[in-house]
Amino acid sequence: MDILEAIKKRKSVRAYADKPVEDEKLRLCLEAVKLSPSACNLQPYKIHILTGKNKDEFCGQVFSGTYSACSFAAKAPVIFAFVSSKKTFTGWAGNQIQGTDFPLIDIGIAGEHLALQAAALGLGTCWLGWFSKKKADKFLKTGFGEKTEILMSLGYPAGETPARPRKKDDELFFFTEKI
Ligand SMILES: Cc1cc2nc3c(=O)[nH]c(=O)nc-3n(C[C@H](O)[C@H](O)[C@H](O)COP(=O)(O)O)c2cc1C
Repeated sequence: MDILEAIKKRKSVRAYADKPVEDEKLRLCLEAVKLSPSACNLQPYKIHILTGKNKDEFCGQVFSGTYSACSFAAKAPVIFAFVSSKKTFTGWAGNQIQGTDFPLIDIGIAGEHLALQAAALGLGTCWLGWFSKKKADKFLKTGFGEKTEILMSLGYPAGETPARPRKKDDELFFFTEKI
């Protein structure tokens, strides 16, 4: 599949079919994550792959109360939890000197690699930023310098997902010769 085709196919899927994701397809998604670039090639993250009872328990906790708007994700057969790790000196220094959260950027790239590979395989994903971080950290037993930054659901879409609108080109792109 052409890359732009996969990009166009990817949409945030919030309704999942009652169908498991094949191991082989999951492996391809993980391979796409592994090949993603990261600052200084540090790959400063751990990605937890939650399935089955573990996933149900996790979703029950992190999408409870205030966060119930994202409880649709519990129907997905797989939930990924992206945990940042700022334990290395390079990661720490990059943050301090440059004022940029490189691990967060790296997680964004890794997750989008996953989402695009999933789309190419006919699977749906949704980034999930609205969840109890405190409960996620506790559940995943995150260590020193680690934080659950974001989640992503994965599964077969139940039905069609409409495309969301985007800003106009002149609101997004600024060619320097016009400045
Ligand atoms: C960092 C990030 C966090 C997001 N968090 C949520 C979320 O908590 N719940 C949700 O339903 N969608 C979430 N989304 C999905 C966005 O709402 C979605 O990407 C946007 O509306 C564009 O739609 P599309 O992905 O279908 O193109 C998130 C997306 C990103 C990139």
